Amino acid sequence: MISRDVIVASSILAANFAQLADEIYRVEQAGADWIHCDIMDGHFVDNISFGPEIVGIVRKETKLPLDVHLMIQRPDHFVARFAKAGANSITVHVEREANHDVAKTLRAIREAGCRSGLSLNPATPFDAVEPFLDRIDALLVMTVHPGFGGQKFRPEMMEKVKDAVQWNEAHTRKINIEVDGGINAETARVSIESGANVLIAGTFIFHATDYSEAIRQLRGE
Ligand code: DX5
Ligand code: ZN
Repeated sequence: MISRDVIVASSILAANFAQLADEIYRVEQAGADWIHCDIMDGHFVDNISFGPEIVGIVRKETKLPLDVHLMIQRPDHFVARFAKAGANSITVHVEREANHDVAKTLRAIREAGCRSGLSLNPATPFDAVEPFLDRIDALLVMTVHPGFGGQKFRPEMMEKVKDAVQWNEAHTRKINIEVDGGINAETARVSIESGANVLIAGTFIFHATDYSEAIRQLRGE
């Protein structure tokens, strides 16, 4: 079951890690729906963020669902550890460079009791995820090249969002359609109009002075 209401997933990549507990508290109070955890390994993407230990620490600070986005090679090797750390959903990448058996990893995510997501980079066509859509809970359309927060939204990615909307229209079981990267008040509106229902935002929320106001703006309120 998915909600057609807009879900705001706040990406802690842009949070102040010196005060992570306080940041999580503030963003939860401000009305964020999920906490998005960006995991980077320095191989699949050109950056390193954090691992299961930190996700476990975040888990202790909030009741909100933890949405873990694995931008790593061999994600299959880490599914169990992130599930144990408290992930509610785990998203993996479809690209060959992620170096795993996608169908098998998606199965492992569900078997670990998590909702499963599949993501595609800006350069990857929608076709690449099509064979898996019947067995995932969410499609995460990267709207920037993954690796860093604070990049500019790529509007041409909305074609893939629209492809996913078409798929949803043709099937009874619906998947969440998520956008990640460069989401602000304006690009949130573009994404929602294209059919996305999950907005993943880091910089726009955590660099704002008023987190509640930022989240309201994302919802178009
Ligand atoms: C990018 C990550 C995003 C990132 C979004 O590699 O997957 O989740 O944190 O950050 P902003 O909202 O700053 O573009
Ligand atoms: Zn992400």
